[in-house]
Amino acid sequence: MATLTVLKTPREAAAWAKRVRRAGQRLALVPTMGALHEGHLSLVREGLRRADVVLVSIFVNPTQFGPTEDLARYPRDLEGDVAKCAEAGAAAVYAPEPGMVYPPGYQTYVEVGELSQGLCGARRPGHFRGVATVVTKLFALLRPHVALFGEKDYQQLQVITALAQDLELGVEVVGMPTVREPDGLAMSSRNRYLGAEDRRRALSLSQGLFDAQAQEARGVRDAESLRKAVRDRLDAANVKEDYVELVDARTLKPLERVETGHAARLLVAAFVGATRLIDNVPVPREGT
Ligand code: PAF
Repeated sequence: MATLTVLKTPREAAAWAKRVRRAGQRLALVPTMGALHEGHLSLVREGLRRADVVLVSIFVNPTQFGPTEDLARYPRDLEGDVAKCAEAGAAAVYAPEPGMVYPPGYQTYVEVGELSQGLCGARRPGHFRGVATVVTKLFALLRPHVALFGEKDYQQLQVITALAQDLELGVEVVGMPTVREPDGLAMSSRNRYLGAEDRRRALSLSQGLFDAQAQEARGVRDAESLRKAVRDRLDAANVKEDYVELVDARTLKPLERVETGHAARLLVAAFVGATRLIDNVPVPREGT
């Protein structure tokens, strides 16, 4: 296993990244909030295919949590995360304290327009402002050639793709497929909150999405029926819907139906007990 550098301050991280670039190496960034799972590690491995060196940032970003959300109890395991990053081949971890990223007097935020407004943006006011701000700060500080994100957070991926393009940050933003447990549950750091019974109920999200994809493959095209396929699974598991939406895969605007040759995405957010989970799939299924 290669040795891994742990960077604690913005200054250290910027200097480290500058040395990488000066050495003529391509730098890949994998931004995370830690509690790493196989989904994150798949991003590290893809980063190594696209660049010479991978840096993982681990920062539970306070500005993307609402006042009643789970910032305080969000899982933190820096030691375990560093070991996983080393094992996956990352060269460095950047793990600053909140006060280093948002020192007293901090007052600059990044807002992405329409893409941030529906779906999770409507249910979690300020969430994407916090995400866009911290990711822009990471891009500006580290100036990676490529940055990798999971499609599990599909709206986040579109928001970050837009900000990198609109602000001409010179970073290639790459989205990677959701990594799932063998039974279909999308991997998420928040799955750690689930007890055995809730873990079973949480399967209703992916099962509903897969049912909808199967219906679409049989010719069901209207959004209402596809949404109902998801809702039926949520209801049967007594899981509370936050939203179920069929949207254009790029603009995230709601669609009435799936049109041939037009990429759509079906997204769900739901509460399993107190835990809010999200998941999404392409419609039609990829490869069809
Ligand atoms: O997806 C996440 O873990 C976070 O939203 C991100 C992109 C690291 C920003 O804090």
